[in-house]
Amino acid sequence: MTTKLAVFASGSGSNFQALQEAIERGELHATIELVITDKPGAFVVTRANNFGIPVVELAPKAFENKVAYEQKVIELLEAHDVDWVILAGYMRLVGETLLTAYENRIINIHPSLLPSFPGKDAIGQAMDHGVKVTGVTVHYVDAGMDTGKIIAQGAVDVVPGDREQTEARVHKLEHALYTNTLQQLFKQTFA
Ligand code: GRF
Repeated sequence: MTTKLAVFASGSGSNFQALQEAIERGELHATIELVITDKPGAFVVTRANNFGIPVVELAPKAFENKVAYEQKVIELLEAHDVDWVILAGYMRLVGETLLTAYENRIINIHPSLLPSFPGKDAIGQAMDHGVKVTGVTVHYVDAGMDTGKIIAQGAVDVVPGDREQTEARVHKLEHALYTNTLQQLFKQTFA
């Protein structure tokens, strides 16, 4: 049985692309059925189109409230028979409506060693604090900001004073760690 995923992203979508490429290499036994972005026009839309994966651009502002927005999201997930929701640079807190519908089936990746540096610009926060080692965390999503149960972590040496290189290291690790962690998780769940 193949695990069916929806990827949620708000920006570039490099993690989405890394997952899709891992699927195509046979390293992740899943299919990305749908990409949802809350930022119409985000670069992830171009990436999804390049792979021929359905993408829905859904501006939350177009809905009466968060519940209505998430109900629409659930409708799309159900129409595509989605098993797991994979957040990859989705810059929005998930509300109770979606959390309840996909309980323990929503995963996020965050570019720090949580619980250090949750929220926006985690790499910048880490560098401002002068930490020598930062990293990547894959975790279950709950109602808080990057507070859900931790599934996997990996460490990255900060390149002092060089944000670009540090970021490149973090993203490289993200792409590998997300693939490996999800593959393990799906194997366990359906074993
Ligand atoms: C990644 O660093 C991810 O950990 C964070 O947002 C960034 C998204 O990058 N949540 P991309 O859109 O996947 O390139």
